[in-house]
Amino acid sequence: MALVNYNKLLAYAKENHITIGAFNSLNMETLQALVSAANKKDAPIIVQTYHKHVDFAGADYMRAIAGVASDHSNVKIALGLDHGRSFEQAKLCVDAGYSGVMIDLASADYDYNVRETKRVVEIAHQKGVSVEAELGTIVDADQTPEEIAKGYTDPVIARKFVADTGIDCLAVSIGTAHGTYAYEPVINFELLQELLDTAGCPVVVHGGSGTPDEDVLKMVEMGIAKLNVGTDFFNAYNDAMAAFYREHTTHCDIADAFAYARDAVEKTAIQKLDLLTHFRVKTGQRD
Ligand code: 13P
Repeated sequence: MALVNYNKLLAYAKENHITIGAFNSLNMETLQALVSAANKKDAPIIVQTYHKHVDFAGADYMRAIAGVASDHSNVKIALGLDHGRSFEQAKLCVDAGYSGVMIDLASADYDYNVRETKRVVEIAHQKGVSVEAELGTIVDADQTPEEIAKGYTDPVIARKFVADTGIDCLAVSIGTAHGTYAYEPVINFELLQELLDTAGCPVVVHGGSGTPDEDVLKMVEMGIAKLNVGTDFFNAYNDAMAAFYREHTTHCDIADAFAYARDAVEKTAIQKLDLLTHFRVKTGQRD
């Protein structure tokens, strides 16, 4: 099955009252694990490559792996660039055959963010590729809830930004953060509701790792379109590798170690998809 763009999956999510998992991967094993979980849960997903991991793995390699995974999949798969740092990086991924790209210039000034995001939208939409951008700042999870709140997305500016740029979905800052939380996250559900009501496009939440299940369920019920999760998968992978090598010599069959880590990522992805599909309304329609 060919890769699909975000819009197709986000529309499916709305109709079926699920949230699309946008899960980070950086190599064949993590990507296989995520797609296998998606098939087991009958839930379409976005596999996405963090901007640094595009540099690490190569956009063309990730596209090739995702293409094979998608061919073997019974559910639809999108491949996205996560937190693209520049027009040039977004273009690299569009040209490599990604079906979605995020351009993250949230820390730049508004006019520059709009100008560069529009350039990405122009080249991406020509090829049917979806575009996500960010407004407000989603900071790292070592910050306190008060510090995280300083980056909150302003709903009035968000609405203008969506209209000014023509993006397909917007990442918002509502209390989640990237990485391992140093403090329990405090989600501003009121702000999230306002953004859902007024942004003018599907709303995306980042920093899904370590966010309490009841908070994730509430955001899914409220109708967030896409939840990004990365750290939990990479921790699962690293922990499994470490556990494996505590039990085995490092001169064992390397495939056994990779398979063990891949299973751990798949298990974590299934737990996430259980939450994201918790309120699923079966429409009888395939994704
Ligand atoms: P976590 O690594 O905190 O899950 O965040 C992932 C993310 O938001 C990627 O954009």
